[in-house]
Amino acid sequence: MAIRAEGVIARWSDRLALEPSAPHITLGEGNTPCVESLTIGPSLGLASLHFKLEGLNPTGSFKDRGMVVAVAAALQAGSSAIICASTGNTSASAAAYGGRFGLRTIVVVPRGHIASGKLIQARVHGATVVSIDGAFDLALRVVRELCAHHPVTLVNSVNPYRIEGQKTAAFEIVDELGDAPEVLALPVGNAGNITAYWRGFREEHRDGRATRLPRMLGGQASGAAPLVLGHPVDNPQTVATAIRIGNPASWQGAIDARDQSEGLIESVDDAAILDAQRRIARFEGIFCEPASAASLAVLERAVADGAVAPGTHAVCVLTGNGLKDPGAVEASLSPILEIPADADALARAIEA
Ligand code: F0G
Repeated sequence: MAIRAEGVIARWSDRLALEPSAPHITLGEGNTPCVESLTIGPSLGLASLHFKLEGLNPTGSFKDRGMVVAVAAALQAGSSAIICASTGNTSASAAAYGGRFGLRTIVVVPRGHIASGKLIQARVHGATVVSIDGAFDLALRVVRELCAHHPVTLVNSVNPYRIEGQKTAAFEIVDELGDAPEVLALPVGNAGNITAYWRGFREEHRDGRATRLPRMLGGQASGAAPLVLGHPVDNPQTVATAIRIGNPASWQGAIDARDQSEGLIESVDDAAILDAQRRIARFEGIFCEPASAASLAVLERAVADGAVAPGTHAVCVLTGNGLKDPGAVEASLSPILEIPADADALARAIEA
């Protein structure tokens, strides 16, 4: 049987802080490929660059790793409903796992700033979808308040089981590459993922499976860069709606990851994000969503600044699948050639 079908809980049960009696549920999450860059890595002078394809998880993002653990814990605790605030991917994941395992699922999203595919996912899996007039940060505040008074399990990454599940991506990278990379680049929004990876790598190092710890390199969108600015941002803005967050819940986890790893959290503007997304698609064959491309954009910035040296072994985490948000790239694509159904016309059209 392929390891993939095991899922995160069965594969890593001895290394997850989850009660042994929690159900070993799965939707086939985890065990995503680490694909070597053929073009971009060499052009940056890196010794190696791998892309961790988290968009290949069942609902198309890394969120499934933590969601499966959070839902298992909720089931074990006898919960009958889960809720989250989301910029889209968490809601898609909660809806899928909630639907599959018989939990009522409620998701609260910022109106007008969520990729169409993600919203459809939440709805098709049967979640109750509520949109608010406000950004993710406000949605999370409202949801946390509600949870204080209602018997519904919060499955945002403030739920510690989420971070536990997400750390397994670091285990897989060490497994696949034989050691931790020297640099791990990833997008940072609510900052759960950078917190989770850093925990995962520290555990690998502590247990002797990795000889080194990576420098953690976080990318925030320049219109939503509270960790770079050092203060919350009231009205975050970016084309990368997944990371349109002004006051990350795991603020301290991100700062610890950055400082303990001698890493960096830097901002990259929307143009750099979209350009990185386009090049990953064009030259590497991987369609990730805009937020995911912030990993490469920040790595490129660090190489240009001299903060990451040529000859470095790096991994970029591509957190979500580009198919969720085709609208974000459409304007930059070359036009479709419209021709009559005729071989001569086809020959002329493709000549150029
Ligand atoms: N990349 C993608 C595709 C995301 O969906 C998110 C977060 C991030 C990166 C950032 O990860 O929040 O752990 O720092 N999406 C959340 C959501 C906020 O609601 O789907 P983070």
